[in-house]
Amino acid sequence: MNERGFGEGRNGEHSYFGHEGESHLARNFALLRQNPRLFFQKVATWLRPMDGYYRRRWGCSLRDWMIRYHKEVVFDKVSWMGVKARKMVLDAWVYQQIIYQVRPEIIIEIGNAEGGSTLYLAHLLDMLGAGKVIAVDIDHTIFQPRHSRIELVTGDSSRQETLARVEQFAEGSQGLVIHDGDHSRDHVLKDLRAYAKFVKEGGYLVVEDTATDLFRAGDGLGNINGPMGAVEQFLREDTRFQIDLGCELFIATFNPRGFLKRAG
Ligand SMILES: C[S@@+](CC[C@H](N)C(=O)[O-])C[C@H]1O[C@@H](n2cnc3c(N)ncnc32)[C@H](O)[C@@H]1O
Repeated sequence: MNERGFGEGRNGEHSYFGHEGESHLARNFALLRQNPRLFFQKVATWLRPMDGYYRRRWGCSLRDWMIRYHKEVVFDKVSWMGVKARKMVLDAWVYQQIIYQVRPEIIIEIGNAEGGSTLYLAHLLDMLGAGKVIAVDIDHTIFQPRHSRIELVTGDSSRQETLARVEQFAEGSQGLVIHDGDHSRDHVLKDLRAYAKFVKEGGYLVVEDTATDLFRAGDGLGNINGPMGAVEQFLREDTRFQIDLGCELFIATFNPRGFLKRAG
């Protein structure tokens, strides 16, 4: 674990499961020697047949779980305080860890939809006692929350007028930028170039839905020209930012290679 609570292996590589270099067999022999009672309890759990409902439910691959989450859960079953949030909940938890660590003065969320994710961010800032969420969307007609920390900027994120309004709120502040608007490669790239200036050293620029570039069209998630291509190009141009794989600690994320930390 590093100071943010994200997992890292012994040589700095990312390790999700711990117990590196120790075999399953060796661990069980050690347990038998040290605590025979616990060892036999463990054996009993191996012999007990697993509940069939959960064997089927938990037997899917992580890839299938992500596809199912996207198709059946994210659009109408996830909410924050009663407001729909089109969010992978594990990513929302990573946001909480980033926000606690970085203490951004301003969070710029591009793409708000109903606003559950925006309200979630505002509530996190409430708990820290400072900060504003600049909620940028081309259309706020379905946006629901009213909260003193949320400022609405309605307009196409890539247009100069929109950027100028964001600047009025964000200039000089440490910003966290979350891009969840138009996910096409060229649009995301344009926005990354324009909004990177709101992130200071140690801060984050997050590109949502890069997972769509890893899936196939038939999966219901696939995107041949999605945000991951924009991330790759942006990182070639702006070397101050680096992918923070530590933010992928839960493995399942809609934002693979999408958590960009400004290192310099
Ligand atoms: C995936 S939804 C956002 C979901 C929200 N962040 C959440 O987690 O619940 C995408 C949003 O981006 C907005 N959007 C699409 N193109 C945009 C653009 N060019 N500028 C600003 N917002 C845009 C859409 O109106 C939509 O509300």
